[in-house]
Amino acid sequence: MPQPPALALPRLIAHRGLSAHAPENTLSAVRAAHDAGFHWVELDVQLLGDGTPVIWHDATLKRCSDGHGRLATLDLAAVRKLDVGAWFSDDFRGERMATLSDMLALLVELDMGVNMELKVTRRRSGTELAEIVVPRLLKALPPERLILSSFDQPALQHARSLADASLLPIGVLTESVPEKWRSRCEALEAYSIHTDWTRLTARRAREIKAAGYRLLCYTPNDPAAFANRWEWGVDSAISDDPPLFTGFAPPAPPLELG
Ligand code: G3P
Ligand code: MG
Repeated sequence: MPQPPALALPRLIAHRGLSAHAPENTLSAVRAAHDAGFHWVELDVQLLGDGTPVIWHDATLKRCSDGHGRLATLDLAAVRKLDVGAWFSDDFRGERMATLSDMLALLVELDMGVNMELKVTRRRSGTELAEIVVPRLLKALPPERLILSSFDQPALQHARSLADASLLPIGVLTESVPEKWRSRCEALEAYSIHTDWTRLTARRAREIKAAGYRLLCYTPNDPAAFANRWEWGVDSAISDDPPLFTGFAPPAPPLELG
């Protein structure tokens, strides 16, 4: 069975970039994470109607841009006209939606790692998303700087069919860890489980760690409330505001092989 790459997983990952301080899922948010000393980001990727992969969380434009409409009905020329920064603050006025290609170029330039979430919104195909995104990720980034995650099982299954565990670390995303977590991870040859930190139990955390998987939690922004999760064995926190955790998170774990 192929072994996962030796991935230097950090304790803190900036959720949607440094999203407490810059508009989420933008190039500025990734630069802000880097400038604040955080070298891994979590980002969401989905397809426009014309098949272009873009870095975006919601199915629609409304919350994070000056436009309206569903991504599934738009093409790249249309979304490039939008301002995706001014909703956050005037400092980011003029920010443009990042394509996957824009974002990968920046991650390469800054030597950063990414937990890329395949964001499968209602009535859209996870398989199609994986088919388009996975080859581009593999071409741009070494496996040591990449985790591919999704709540969508077909997306992850298709991703695994495209690349084995030595090339593509897969993270199983789940709001709460199901009873059958182990078989799900085994079927995908997963690297990690990513779960809501408020719904994780100490018992489940210890089971997951004992089985050899990495355990990541989203989206804690209160380091004191999160403190006992480190004791349960959680490897990484995916936070909107990782600078808050300075002095609270334990030192980075040693590099684990396999
Ligand atoms: O990948 C962790 C987290 O981002 C999952 O939820 O809705 O923030 O994409 P969401
Ligand atoms: Mg996400």
